[in-house]
Amino acid sequence: MSGGAVSTCRLDRLLANLGYGSRREIEILARHGRIKLDGAALREIGRVPLSPEFAARMTVDGEVLDPLPGLVVMMHKPLGVTCSHKEAGPLVYRLLPERWRRRDPAISTVGRLDKETSGLLLLTDDGALLHRIISPRKKIAKIYRAKLDGALNGDEAAVFASGAMMLEGEDKPLLPAGLEVLGPSEARVTIVEGRYHQVRRMFAAVGNHVVALHREALGGLKLDEDLAPGEFRLLDAKEIAAIFLSPAGEPS
Ligand code: URA
Repeated sequence: MSGGAVSTCRLDRLLANLGYGSRREIEILARHGRIKLDGAALREIGRVPLSPEFAARMTVDGEVLDPLPGLVVMMHKPLGVTCSHKEAGPLVYRLLPERWRRRDPAISTVGRLDKETSGLLLLTDDGALLHRIISPRKKIAKIYRAKLDGALNGDEAAVFASGAMMLEGEDKPLLPAGLEVLGPSEARVTIVEGRYHQVRRMFAAVGNHVVALHREALGGLKLDEDLAPGEFRLLDAKEIAAIFLSPAGEPS
């Protein structure tokens, strides 16, 4: 926060919204001395500052408090999990700590990756930020590495960049997209839209087939190289700001 007043929240509401239990259950936790501030039991349910500095001084059952509302998570989405709250089968939300799934506001994925796409996935409980990132007006670059069934024919970069490419079943051409050849049947693709199965359908439109798809970056934010599939970490303010930069790290 930059100099402004820090907002406050009743402790029972804060902990209930972070998924620790109902407000009644939080009251019982406090009464039993299980909530501590600077190591001393915090039995009084009063208002507390909503600041990371204050939160860092609190523990519940000996563990530091979960991240305050406003979190942004970088996840290395593995193959085979779905970006959905309710579909059958493995879901990305199951990769987060169990308590985080009971938070209010809830954590949502920032856009979606297909079940069979891996790579950089953001999740947040900040609805305004989520909408800023997925807003078509922001034209945030999404960078994918695609492995293809067939060899590239050399025309793809021009077709993708044309601004005239039509996807089957759609009536509006795609905005220009970038293609960098990485190998005979491998390419890096940069798109600024988020149409359904966009990269797979772009290659289908030029007679090829994507066999593996991995998102490497969003704007100026790259997936950590040492984050294994299924792992995640929180982003700091500078990293969140990088999402709105160009892939080269410049204002876009
Ligand atoms: N394009 C696709 O085809 N799939 C994704 O998951 C993302 C972009």
